[in-house]
Amino acid sequence: MKTSQILRYQELADRLAELIQQGTYPRGERIPSVRQMSQQQGVSISTVLQAYYLLEDHGLIEARPQSGYYVREHAAERLPEPEMSSPGQDPSQVSLHEVVMMLMRDSTNPNLVQLGAALPNPEYLPLKKINQITAKILREDEINAHQYHFPPGIEILRVQVAQRAVNAGCSLSPSDILITSGGTEAIDLCLHAVCKPGDIVAVESPMYFGSLQTLEVHGLRALEIPTHPREGISLDALKFAIEHNPIRAVLVISNFNNPLGSHIPDEKKKELVELLARHEIPLIENDVSGEIYFSEKRPLVCKAFDKKGLVMLISSFSKDISPGMRIGWVAPGRFKAEVEWLKFTISSSSSALAQMVIAEFLESGGYEHHLRRIRREYARNVDLMSRAVMRHFPAGTRVTRPSGGFVLWVQLSENVDSLELYKLALQGGITLAPGYVFSATHQFPNFIRLNAAEYNYMTERALERLGVMIVEMSKK
Ligand SMILES: Cc1ncc(COP(=O)(O)O)c(C=O)c1O
Repeated sequence: MKTSQILRYQELADRLAELIQQGTYPRGERIPSVRQMSQQQGVSISTVLQAYYLLEDHGLIEARPQSGYYVREHAAERLPEPEMSSPGQDPSQVSLHEVVMMLMRDSTNPNLVQLGAALPNPEYLPLKKINQITAKILREDEINAHQYHFPPGIEILRVQVAQRAVNAGCSLSPSDILITSGGTEAIDLCLHAVCKPGDIVAVESPMYFGSLQTLEVHGLRALEIPTHPREGISLDALKFAIEHNPIRAVLVISNFNNPLGSHIPDEKKKELVELLARHEIPLIENDVSGEIYFSEKRPLVCKAFDKKGLVMLISSFSKDISPGMRIGWVAPGRFKAEVEWLKFTISSSSSALAQMVIAEFLESGGYEHHLRRIRREYARNVDLMSRAVMRHFPAGTRVTRPSGGFVLWVQLSENVDSLELYKLALQGGITLAPGYVFSATHQFPNFIRLNAAEYNYMTERALERLGVMIVEMSKK
């Protein structure tokens, strides 16, 4: 973002804060809409939005869904959010695997309170139903279940995926879809299909460390783009990056970025797709948590606006049905033949049994009901955990306000090193994800990601102990 633009929205926020202080905009009253304010003040919509975000961040106003912005009745009851990230402007090799492998090992240790890996809450997985379906298929269709099901994968599953994609604004045919072994394999195949070693891939900052690992494996360079904690990648910064770098692909988690919980508003998704279409740059869109939204309506995917076949849409059933089944999918647009060939060459096919089980679960009609329940549960757990962070962590802590998914991104004071905290927490029987692994250029040393999928007495006590550790560390 240009300095003049930053000054403009800060000036506007200061002016409005003064008007709120002196009662021109009284407590509990609505302030002018973004459009009215932009006309009144002669500034752009995005300047007003940034100013409103800042005021919200400082606890002066609050957004009410479908109604607008209001002056808050009381002082902030929530912690402020982290600010827009501001990574450097140069691409970087990724080298994070040692820390990531350490995290991975700790994430399977049953003696630790697991706040690290983004594992779904096992109680919210439809395991009973899945087990019944598995037993039935093995009884009635054993031969098929033990056969290869070569790419693109079994048709009944692709039909179900295409039908669900309609909710996300896509009209896909089953032949547009390819079944993969989880979202991880789909991301790997897409990057493999469109990039070669040394290429630059623009990514949101912070970015899910698993995808940074895929860049590392393929020898790709990450160009981290400033990202808003609620609205995702900055298009201004991305435009600038495209003008100054030969970007080969862009990778975003459009709905519920991990770790931010942000989602790119639908209108901005359209702009993103159009921007990349002008430059013929493929967009790898990760939507693995897209079904776990906290609002009334499912946000669209970027793919909904794709006219040129440049968007490669990825999702999986790991967060809402079963991570262990390892079933994901990709709609690779114009790169389908390449991705299909790679899938066949690298892993031949995904588990036939798992594909059949997921397909039947989706067909049986219980999926939507199941999703409604877990959306409610995850929204509640995320809220409970962010309140616990407010209670137990020292002043100055910032935390995201996710609009879906189940992770929280927490900014600690600058002298807290998240890797040191990680080691200390392990000694205290807790594991978390240190901010280090979410950036190739170490942008987030004083951040941690917490998994809020499970919220209970143990997690509350673990957060209390973490809070004490953080207070001690911030004194040093
Ligand atoms: C953003 C994101 N993408 C991909 C994955 C991996 O998905 P899968 O388990 O389907 O491979 C995860 C899992 O944590 C994730 O959070």
